Amino acid sequence: MSERSGAEVVAAVTAAFERTFGAAPDGVWSAPGRVNLIGEHTDYNGGLCLPIALPQRTFAAVSRRDDDLVRMVSAQQEGTSEVEIDDISPDRPGGWAAYVAGVLWALRRDGLEVGGLDVVVDSTVPFGAGLSSSAALECAVAAAVSDLHGLGLLDSAEGRARFAALCVEAENVIAGAPTGGMDQSASLLCDEAAALLLDCRSGDTEQVPFDLAGAGHALLVTDTRAEHALVDGQYAARRDACEQAARVLGVETLREIAPADLDGTLGRLDSEEQRQRVRHVVTEIERVTLTVGALRAGDLAEVGRLFDASHASLRDDYEVSCDELDVATATARAHGALGARMTGGGFGGSCIAIVPAGRVEEVAGAVAAAFEEHGYTPPVSFAVVASAPAHRDA
Ligand code: GLA
Repeated sequence: MSERSGAEVVAAVTAAFERTFGAAPDGVWSAPGRVNLIGEHTDYNGGLCLPIALPQRTFAAVSRRDDDLVRMVSAQQEGTSEVEIDDISPDRPGGWAAYVAGVLWALRRDGLEVGGLDVVVDSTVPFGAGLSSSAALECAVAAAVSDLHGLGLLDSAEGRARFAALCVEAENVIAGAPTGGMDQSASLLCDEAAALLLDCRSGDTEQVPFDLAGAGHALLVTDTRAEHALVDGQYAARRDACEQAARVLGVETLREIAPADLDGTLGRLDSEEQRQRVRHVVTEIERVTLTVGALRAGDLAEVGRLFDASHASLRDDYEVSCDELDVATATARAHGALGARMTGGGFGGSCIAIVPAGRVEEVAGAVAAAFEEHGYTPPVSFAVVASAPAHRDA
């Protein structure tokens, strides 16, 4: 993928800010998109997930204002969006600006003293690719507000976790997407060269060394460019099904179900659909633990097998895959990937594959050829490394 460097985007977003608002910004902050290595649709079930931060980031050039007005411009969208902080609601400002304004709404609601801002954003995170461009946007703005208002929330893991929770609220309430929280935690808490083991029940986090290049492999991301939207009903329907199953089983979340008790537990559910959803969640949480063990033991072949099992479970039990994701993952495996799986919410979006370093071009080419054969939109494949969390750039 041809891509602008961080320094180029910082220069571009600074120049765009000067053109729009007639003065230099107070600073530039950025936050990464993510891919989840494994642990899909577990976050809202109190489970485990294992994301890494991407090299692709969203940058925000920001100045503090003395009033409560928020003015927002995006290099990727037409026009300026404006809203007063007290007018921010699920209906206002709407569109991409809801992710910016929602952060201010959530911070103020939490009792933090925040005021208006002028904001210009620019991003190298592909949109609609299931790589959390929305969380990257929220977290870049949150980082800017923390610094500009002296909140100090970037200075500690606790502060970053609190920020992540507020960004989730912004997304749930103001942007109207009922997401679970993994994406914002990834963008604020992942470290370079590490995957973040996130326990969504306790809030505990652990950095797990993740350096495929050192082991002669690469993590290949393929954006299938198949339609994907979290605000459509499917994601919410999966979440509802899990919450309903938890009520039937008398547990707070599906995390409470031990893998050893799975068979007995499934027998207490009376719909096959509920059994499938629960089986995915319980086995997927276990696969996260197994993946962390395999990574620590340097057993990439086992990590690959776990990726494949995760994909099968998401396809067959959770039913959130799609033809493009199934073709991309199968083709990657057929061309030497150790394992491949969809990542993110599903219904389109991206997949990841662990590929021997020397076969990255071959796998990307084979997936592109398979897509052409099926008449799908051409995919976009690129190798990624685990990158840095939200920070100030300039
Ligand atoms: C989306 C949501 C996350 C998570 C994943 C599935 O990315 O934003 O909270 O639920 O789907 O694992």
